[in-house]
Amino acid sequence: MGKLDGRVAVVTGAGGGLGREEALLLAAEGAQVVVNDIKGAQNTVDDITAAGGRAVAVEGSVSDLSVGEAMVEAAVQHFGDLHAIVNNAGFIRDALLVKMTEEQFDSVLEVHLKGTFALTRAAATYWVGRAKAGEAADRSIVNTTSGAGLHGNPGQFNYSAAKAGAAMMAVTAAIELKKFGVRANAIAPVAGTGPVLATPGLGDMIAKAAEANGGFDSFDPANIAPLVGYLAGADCPFTGQVFSVQGGHVGLYQGWSIEHEVDRKGRWTVEELSAELDAWPTRIKVNRQKVAL
Ligand SMILES: NC(=O)c1ccc[n+]([C@@H]2O[C@H](COP(=O)([O-])OP(=O)(O)OC[C@H]3O[C@@H](n4cnc5c(N)ncnc54)[C@H](O)[C@@H]3O)[C@@H](O)[C@H]2O)c1
Repeated sequence: MGKLDGRVAVVTGAGGGLGREEALLLAAEGAQVVVNDIKGAQNTVDDITAAGGRAVAVEGSVSDLSVGEAMVEAAVQHFGDLHAIVNNAGFIRDALLVKMTEEQFDSVLEVHLKGTFALTRAAATYWVGRAKAGEAADRSIVNTTSGAGLHGNPGQFNYSAAKAGAAMMAVTAAIELKKFGVRANAIAPVAGTGPVLATPGLGDMIAKAAEANGGFDSFDPANIAPLVGYLAGADCPFTGQVFSVQGGHVGLYQGWSIEHEVDRKGRWTVEELSAELDAWPTRIKVNRQKVAL
């Protein structure tokens, strides 16, 4: 018995990297999986099928609204329903802000923001329809954010904006879709996939650390998938939350939260605000995800 028996899930960008590991784990736990990617989706499907699981491929870009709809249709047509979507597909186009081109900015927002919108809208449309028809079930959205989108990162003006959006789309979907039985959360992963291993020397450092760590590779992309499996499950109580995850670490974020405030009946002058706010701390300590080797 798998933890996800009877569940039907879609994973985007699952031809490689984290998405592939997520699709493999969901299938190993009993879910039937729609595997999307612009390339390599069928390879993941073949591996799932060879291991005794059930999966089908939908190739195409997540930024295309009709591909989002095709993924939902494939789930319903092949497996009879849809319970979980994992918005994972994406890429980086890093550049310093003053050198960032319009194409670099637009393409990153297109894949992460519009891609997440496209599949989520198609799935939500189907789920709201099912709920209105009296077919209640636990439905789950898992978005993929990043430390860059939660804390900022130089060279990633485009990606930080897109990933902050991916986290907030989960928070807002959780609020809006609660009455239809839909949960939504986001994960901020760290793992040694292609884009990360492009950093010179990092691959060697990871390999040495894994050796020192009794063979456990804290950068193995497969470390991320169990949290996605948990969040996709019918018994998961979480919604509207953002999690950090790497190696053996899982964390629950506290979102934007007012730490200091002042209220009065009436408008402040600049001088009065100076007198009041000058006494405040100029930054609030936050706990970032520690990248562990
Ligand atoms: N690896 C990390 O440490 C890390 C950290 C934070 C966030 N993320 C996020 O995790 C997700 C997966 O990244 P990864 O590290 O596995 O990278 P990856 O490059 O290994 O995998 C991304 C996959 O998405 C696919 N893809 C790209 N554009 C697509 C599109 N338009 N439509 C469909 N598929 C598309 C690619 O073909 C690829 O298979 C991304 O959203 C990334 O931003 C990764």
